[in-house]
Amino acid sequence: MELPFAESYRIKMVENIKKSTREEREQWIKDAHYNLFLLKSDYVFIDLLTDSGTGAMSDKQWSAIMLGDESYAGARSYYNMKNAIKDILGFDYFLPTHQGRAAENVLYSTIIKEGDVLPGNSHFDTTKGHIEFRRATALDCTIDEASDTQLEIPFKGNVDVKKLEKALQDNPKEKIPCVVLTVTNNTAGGQPVSMQNIREVSALCKKYGVLLQMDSARFAENAYFIKTREAEFKNKSIKEIVKEMFSYADIMTMSSKKDAIVNMGGFVAFKSEELWKNCQKFCIMNEGFITYGGMSGRDMNALAVGLDEGTEFDYLETRIKQVEYLGSKLDEYGIPYQRPAGGHAIFVDAKKILTHVPKEEFIAQTLGIELYLEAGIRGVEIGAMLADRDPITRENRFPKLELLRLAIPRRTYTNNHMDVIATALKNVYDRRESITRGYVIIREEPIMRHFTVEMDKAK
Ligand code: F0G
Repeated sequence: MELPFAESYRIKMVENIKKSTREEREQWIKDAHYNLFLLKSDYVFIDLLTDSGTGAMSDKQWSAIMLGDESYAGARSYYNMKNAIKDILGFDYFLPTHQGRAAENVLYSTIIKEGDVLPGNSHFDTTKGHIEFRRATALDCTIDEASDTQLEIPFKGNVDVKKLEKALQDNPKEKIPCVVLTVTNNTAGGQPVSMQNIREVSALCKKYGVLLQMDSARFAENAYFIKTREAEFKNKSIKEIVKEMFSYADIMTMSSKKDAIVNMGGFVAFKSEELWKNCQKFCIMNEGFITYGGMSGRDMNALAVGLDEGTEFDYLETRIKQVEYLGSKLDEYGIPYQRPAGGHAIFVDAKKILTHVPKEEFIAQTLGIELYLEAGIRGVEIGAMLADRDPITRENRFPKLELLRLAIPRRTYTNNHMDVIATALKNVYDRRESITRGYVIIREEPIMRHFTVEMDKAK
């Protein structure tokens, strides 16, 4: 008999989590103005808000923490991080930052000016925020297939090279500081980008003389999909694939809270020594000296170990199979989600479930609140709330998709938790016809409103 699949680790330390009653949750979510971000984590049983910084570090990472060198300048920990970035990712120069968006800030403070255009595949919300805040445009060139949730194709995160080439033709290269390639494509459902697509994007960037920035938060998950879905890479190691992916990039921004499996940290890495030097002042002003940025020595040590562990096949297989497992449970119950299952999350297709809730009342947000009320499970809305208002017209933007993202933290929950999530969602799904109203905004910020928005039940 073939042995079943099992996790590639065992558990050494546990953290207790608490269940609650529906009545308690009704009060708590009301007090949080129906914004899942404003809930106390103690009020959540299974937290799928994000896979960012919420994973479990390994025994080796915790050991590395004890060996951290906290020197202000030239710390050993900085060199450990530098060596890992060079050996695993192939970049000679980098600046540590406190997280991914800080890396974007350091880079974009240097290279973006008003009126610029940055084409890419579904820029992440902070990336878009940093671009739009500087009065530049984040131009989405993702393939159209990405918005058909039921279409099963292997690389749904890809850039449409025709759209990209048009953007490169329509704008002078002085107006394009870089192309932003996000691997995996978070907003499109944690969907991967193929090596073939990376090569094509890189070739276009070279042809038009613009830089290629990879937003690399989940680069290792992307490499796993390349290995398992792109025939040419079947026998290559994850580390070999990662090396090739980054051989095409001029710049990488990294949220280490994802595929470097740390709770906090990030960096921006460069092939060009000149650009690295030009960015240093913004690192010093906003983050810290160039050999620690926003990070403590111990965290740089843990990050260096995490980059190594995060690019091991067995780890990635365990992780991605867990996400697939949740997807297969939803298949059993007929619950629609962005297919195929993504690398870090399942994106439930809220529009196909809550067909009676008007889009002006935030469909995916409504599904998120229902799932919380059902079982204390916290997901996150990827829909009209996140899409925010148009920066010029100030009208609400209504994206094609209304998704509820269930992000799975790394090495944190078991498949029993996945069973609870799927069953809770099934219970909501079974009573979907009775859910007819959503929520209205009573207070919002002019940018990145979803984090702090306050809402009330629609009447
Ligand atoms: N790029 C991508 C693709 C991301 O998913 C994130 C964060 C960032 C950049 C910014 O990194 O959080 O370290 O500042 N994504 C988290 C999420 C927050 O929940 O998907 P950060």
